[in-house]
This record gives sequence, C-alpha cells and structure tokens, in this order.
Amino acid sequence: MIFRTLVLFLTFMVTNSTALADQQQTYIVHIDKTKIRASIHSQDNSKPWFEFIIDFISEASMQEDGEEETLAPQLLYTYETSMFGFAAHLSKKHLKYLNQVEGFLSAIPDELSTLHTTYTPHFLGLRSGRTLMTASNLAIDVIIGVLDSGIWPEHTSFQDSGLSPVPSHWKGVCDKGTKFSSSNCNKKLIGARSYFKGYEKYFGRKINETVDYLSPRDSQGHGTHTASTAAGNVVKNANFLGQAKGTATGMRYTSRIAAYKVCWSSGCTNSDVLAAMDQAVSDGVDVLSLSLGSIPKPFYSDSIAIASFGATEKGILVACSAGNSGPFPSTVGNGAPWIMTVAASSTDRTFPTKVKLGNGQSFKGSSLYQGKKTKQLSLVYGKSAGTTKEAQYCIGGSLDPKLVHGKIVACEKGINGRTEKGEEVKVAGGAGMILLNNEYQGEELFADPHILPATSLGASASEIVRSYSQSAKKPTASISFMGTRFGDPAPVMAAFSSRGPSLVGPDVIKPDVTAPGVNILAAWPPKISPSFLKSDKRKVLFNILSGTSMSCPHVSGIAALLKSLHKDWSPAAIKSALMTTSYTLNNKGAPISDMASNNSSLATPFVFGSGHVNPVSASDPGLVYDISTKDYLNYFCSINYTSSQIALLSRRKFVCSKKAVLQAGDLNYPSFAVLFGRSAFNASVTYMRVVTNVGKSKSSYAVKVEQPNGVSVSVEPRKLKFEKLGQKLSYNVTFFATGGPKVGGTSSFGSLIWVSDRYKVRSPIAITWQ
Ligand SMILES: *[C@@H]1O[C@H](CO)[C@@H](O)[C@H](O)[C@H]1NC(C)=O
Ligand SMILES: *[C@@H]1O[C@H](CO)[C@@H](O)[C@H](O)[C@H]1NC(C)=O
Ligand SMILES: *[C@@H]1O[C@H](CO)[C@@H](O)[C@H](O)[C@H]1NC(C)=O
Ligand SMILES: *[C@@H]1O[C@H](CO)[C@@H](O)[C@H](O)[C@H]1NC(C)=O
Ligand SMILES: *[C@@H]1O[C@H](CO)[C@@H](O)[C@H](O)[C@H]1NC(C)=O
Ligand SMILES: *[C@@H]1O[C@H](CO)[C@@H](O)[C@H](O)[C@H]1NC(C)=O
Repeated sequence: MIFRTLVLFLTFMVTNSTALADQQQTYIVHIDKTKIRASIHSQDNSKPWFEFIIDFISEASMQEDGEEETLAPQLLYTYETSMFGFAAHLSKKHLKYLNQVEGFLSAIPDELSTLHTTYTPHFLGLRSGRTLMTASNLAIDVIIGVLDSGIWPEHTSFQDSGLSPVPSHWKGVCDKGTKFSSSNCNKKLIGARSYFKGYEKYFGRKINETVDYLSPRDSQGHGTHTASTAAGNVVKNANFLGQAKGTATGMRYTSRIAAYKVCWSSGCTNSDVLAAMDQAVSDGVDVLSLSLGSIPKPFYSDSIAIASFGATEKGILVACSAGNSGPFPSTVGNGAPWIMTVAASSTDRTFPTKVKLGNGQSFKGSSLYQGKKTKQLSLVYGKSAGTTKEAQYCIGGSLDPKLVHGKIVACEKGINGRTEKGEEVKVAGGAGMILLNNEYQGEELFADPHILPATSLGASASEIVRSYSQSAKKPTASISFMGTRFGDPAPVMAAFSSRGPSLVGPDVIKPDVTAPGVNILAAWPPKISPSFLKSDKRKVLFNILSGTSMSCPHVSGIAALLKSLHKDWSPAAIKSALMTTSYTLNNKGAPISDMASNNSSLATPFVFGSGHVNPVSASDPGLVYDISTKDYLNYFCSINYTSSQIALLSRRKFVCSKKAVLQAGDLNYPSFAVLFGRSAFNASVTYMRVVTNVGKSKSSYAVKVEQPNGVSVSVEPRKLKFEKLGQKLSYNVTFFATGGPKVGGTSSFGSLIWVSDRYKVRSPIAITWQ
C-alpha cells in the first residue's frame, strides 16, 4: 500500500537502458523537503520515507535485472536536522532510479576530509596557558560540539570539578564502545558519540581495532587536543617534558564538551561528518568546532557548508579551520559566509635553539628537544649523508651509517614526518639533525618533540646551511637549546595557513580571523607517543601541535564565551563581534607580518581576514552586522543559484525576487570584498550595510576610511546616531576605481571603521582586479 503510494510520486519509466557498472559507493542524497507530501513525511521522522525510496530503487533495479544478482542498496544515515536527505550505499543503477524520485535534488559521492594539522602531523608547540577570560559565573551552560578524532575522557582537562549540573537543554548521550562507557562522561564531557558507517564503506573494510578504538575514545590525540583547547578545565602546571610550564585551560573552561568522533586513522568521510552535525544540532550544542575539511567547492556540493547552514539557522555558530594549504593564494577552505573560517598564527612563546656553523655564522631555530648543547660536529647533507636522492629528505633507510655516524645531518622537510627524519638520523648513528625549510615554508619554525638533538631553521638560514654544507671543505655545526622564551614579535601568520581570495565565494573576504595555531600546548592521551614514533616511549599529558586545526577551537571556545554573555546573539552577530574587534598590529605595535616571506612582508586580509581575535573586546563590540536566513537566501539569488540549489542548502522553497537588483556584495558581512575588472576606468559599486547597536543606548559614530590604492571610498551617511539599544541604522559605501588599468589578479587593501567615544568597529576592505 505504502509502496504503491510512493510510486505515484515517481516520474520514472522503465527504459531499456544499457547495463551500468554495478559498483556500489556511498552517496549523500539531498531531497527537497517541500516536495514531500505531508501525509508521508510525518513531522519529525522522515526515515520511513527514505526507507521507501531505498525499497523502491531496490525493487526497480531488481526488476530490470531479472534473475541477475544485484547488491541491495543500503541506507547508512538519514539526515533531518541540519540537512534533509540520507546517505546510502548505491550502485549506478540505483542512482538512475533515485534520479527519478520526485524531490530528488542531488547525490554527492562521499568523500574523505582530513584533519587540519600541518602536512606532516608531527610537531609540538606551546600555547601560552593564559585564561582568556576568567569565569565569573560557573553556572554557564554553553555546549561546544567538537567533531574530531574522539576524546581521551580520563584526562585532567576534562575533569568536572566546580561545574554545575549538565545543562537542562542537553539531549545527547554517551555512546558505549571499545574502552568507553557511559560513566566516561561527566559534567564537563557531557556527551560522546562515534560515526564510522561511511568510513567503513569508503574503505570497504571494518575499522581496524588494533589501530582505532571502535568508540568515541581518541586513538590519534588530535580530538583530545582540540577539545581541551576549546573548553578544557583548568590544569595547573601543565607542560611538555618541563617546557612551556603554566596553567592550561580552554578558552572558556566552564563550557561543556560534546565529542563526536568522525575521524579515524585514514581520515573522515563526509557522510559520517554530516551524521554527527545533524545529531549535534538535535542534541542541543551551541557551537560546533570542525578542525577538518577537504578541497573548496561550491556551497551546494560542500557537505560541511550545507550542514553548517542548517545549524546556523538554528542559532548554532560553526567554526572551521581554514586549511593548511598556504602560502599559496586561493587555498582557503570552509569559506561559506555563514561559517567562521579560522586562519593560524603564532604566539610570542618560542622554544629557541642556536645553530652555529664552522664559519662562525649562527642562526636561531626552534625545538622541543631540551638536552645539552652538541659539540661542534661534522655537518652532512644530501650526497654527503647517503647515496640516494632520498638522503636529502632523510627518508627511512636512506642515510648511510658510515657517512652519518657521530655527525649532524641536515634534512629537507617534506615527504615523511619531521620526527621520523630524526628517528632515521638516530638509527643511522647521527648525533643531531637540522631541519631545513624551503622557500614556501618561509620563516615558520615548528617546535618538534625530537628524540635526538635536533632543530628546525627558517628558509633564509636553511639556504645558507645548504650551500655551506656543500661548499665548505670541512663543514661543521653545533646546536644548543634554550628552553622556553617569551616576547617574540607576535602574532605572525603561519606560512601553512590557507589563504584567500576564496574561489568559491569571492564576494566575502576569507578567512575571517586568525587565532593561535603554531606550537600549541593542549591535552594529550598518555598512550600516544608525542612524536607519533613507535620507538618513542615518552608519555605526556600535554603535547604541542600546529595547524589551523589548533586555531579553530580557540575561536570556538571564544564564541561559546560570547554566547554565554549574549544569549540572544545570532551566529552572525557573534562572528561580527569577533571580526570587527580583531587587531592587525602585533605586540610591538607593528603590522602583523607573514612567516611565508623572508623579508617580513606584511600579511593582508587574505591571510588573516579581519585580524587576530580579541575576546575581551569582542564581548563588547559596540555595533554588530547581523545576517538573517533571508539575507543568505538573497545572497544565493545574487550568485545565481538555481531554485534546487537553494532548496538543497536551505530545505525550503524560495523564489528569488525579479524586481530587486541583488548584489552579492550587499550581504551584510562585517568586511568588504570588491571585485573590479582590470580595466575598470571610473567603475563604481555601492553596497549597503546595516549595523545594530549593542553598545551604549545613546551613542554616535563617525566613519573613518583608510582607502585602498586605486580606489576612492565614500560613505553615506558619515555619521550614525543611535538612540537606543537594538536600533538598526544603515549606510551605503561606494567604491570608485580611479586611475588606469591594473594588473589582473592583484589586490589592494584598506579599512572602514565606525568610531565612537568608546568603540572602534572595524571592517577590512579588499579590492581585487580580476
Ligand atoms: C590492522 O592494523 C595492524 C597495525 O597496523 C596491521 O598489522 C593489521 O594487519 C591490520 N589488520 C587488518 C585486518 O587490516
Ligand atoms: C627570499 O629572499 C631571497 C633573496 O633575498 C629570494 O631569492 C627568495 O625568493 C626569497 N624567498 C621568498 C619566499 O620570498
Ligand atoms: C620583499 O617583499 C616584497 C613584497 O612582497 C617584494 O616586493 C620584494 O621583492 C621582496 N624582496 C625580497 C628581497 O625578497
Ligand atoms: C548572475 O547572472 C547575471 C545575469 O546573467 C550576471 O550579470 C552576473 O554576473 C551573474 N553573477 C554571478 C555571480 O555569476
Ligand atoms: C573618468 O572620470 C573623470 C572625472 O569624472 C573623467 O574626466 C574621465 O574622462 C573619465 N575617464 C574615463 C575613461 O571615462
Ligand atoms: C543606500 O542606497 C539605496 C539604493 O540606492 C537607497 O535606497 C538607500 O536609501 C541608501 N541608504 C542610505 C542610508 O543612504
């Protein structure tokens, strides 16, 4: 009966199609909710409907095949909260029938995302243990959902002393599994779940339980690290083997953590990520933190963007890492306008080393190895260390013990892990190692937990070491280790941090902000070696990692803090507060620079977005740029999305206005990305913005503009006078391209600031000549 009803909704006809390859794979299937009859799609449970669809395509393809044996389609997940549809394991033939189901929007093949630690996942660093804001009120009930590699629940960072009972709006659970029981959750870690159906299908095998726990327990360390950064409890005297001593705490240590394990030893599949986001939204999280991603793609085919849209609409802020594909331009990922996209930069805490060459030159490097200074030893590199080309990279087995014994080996970064290179040098009998940066890695210095005296060096020093080791008759070097130091110029943008302009949404500046992501100290499972080396038997409770994976949970934690202070703020208002109050000068008062450059060139908004987050100012921003769901829908219209693309993203029918002239640049974003043709003589665009007063009830603001090169900026009106809180006022800003033709692909930058006696509400401007 039900099956027959279903058939009425189908527009298919059985055709004599040629046989299609019957290999199955997982698809994420989007269904138009508005096309589903209310009678079938009961209010809260679409699962029966999705099961009918699966039954139907199964029947239809079996009929077509006659006697032939076919694999049945398998429903893996149904999605109802943050997107509408399901994940299923389907053949091409199933897909053909699925295409004919009314309301079918798209079927996106499942894909692997990766965690956003830097290319080689092996490095340590140290975050200053500063508490960004002291908790004055412990009865805070903000919940951060962390989608990652799971969690190590016994860690002291997740103890719940001093916390009030679990927030009453929490509906999540604590999944049982391998080495995990419901008693592993407490008032800090209030929920834990794991998702692997998509992962197992993707790789066509079960989770290997010798390398992964089939439960929310973390077998990689990454999830434990990010969760404790976002909301770890206060731990006195946290350190890594005596370095970086201090008090460790998350950004808001009274926030609660819900861990959703979606990443396994080989990555994270989108179908699992979506299932976790969907569940997290109905569990009642307030903030979602995702330190993972894949290559940038249009929002309607980007699973994280789609599910984030649904979450945002329900008032949940989604913070994501921008990616570690820098320093190349247009590499930024997770760049949908409703996502908080986070870049990575350094703090002033360093682990300096000194490398002294036989010719008297010396350089500053970085390492977490903290033993005695080496003697002045012979220095070998490449050919003088091994016969194959791989010796340059110190790949396992490439170094010749006869050439290396008792010497310091210089190794290029890349291919294998940094601590693995050290292991190879040690195994070959080497006495020390110098890790060389290439020109793209610039002056970025990772502090790694090496198992022998070893240090990294920046690109300019590396170039000198390379040529010295090849040209000197008897090259020598020594390395000394200076411990933990403070006071370096900071922040400096990490070379690995992915950069804008966004290819997918060039109408907004991405990333949005930067936060600490280089050499970050946070919680670590004692069972996992800090260097990831099997031979490394050290046990640590805190480890030091780098990546936009590490900067993202800082922002998630700060967003939770803002949410606890301003319950009624939308995700867009929280983003706005974080962006307009961020800073662009370092601790020495100079503009923030970029490690990717060897001549300390300045970082731009395409590297750090609006600037470095500043939680204290963000809690009281004066004005916010709010964005409603309707605004995002108009934005989709302005970028010419089709009605089914809009339905897919928003789970509703929305008709784009034919009358209004919609410009993508009118999205009420707290920054300005303006595109001009390269020969745009006298071209101009005008964008409108609306600001909401959240500062003092009576306040007046005057505009201050720092004009980008080649453009004159005018603002109308130039003064805004507010009479009460919550009042909204609008202004228009016109960008007028002056002067002659520009070189395509270049950009210039400026800013627009609303200034009152108490507040500075700053928006960066990025002009790009296409
Ligand atoms: C599981 O992983 C271990 C360690 O890497 C490996 O030795 C073993 O062969 C794997 N098992 C399967 C079934 O793949
Ligand atoms: C660093 O400077 C040298 C010359 O000073 C130049 O050849 C090289 O390209 C520069 N590298 C970067 C990444 O700017
Ligand atoms: C230094 O950086 C600037 C700006 O990126 C560039 O124009 C200049 O060529 C660089 N100089 C050197 C020596 O690398
Ligand atoms: C959308 O379509 C209009 C009309 O065809 C065109 O002028 C505009 O450039 C398009 N916008 C985008 C973002 O593709
Ligand atoms: C640009 O505008 C200026 C002043 O309005 C005018 O003198 C000039 O001829 C214009 N240039 C072009 C190429 O239209
Ligand atoms: C901004 O421009 C729009 C469109 O031209 C206009 O309707 C609106 O009144 C202007 N707003 C202000 C504050 O000038």
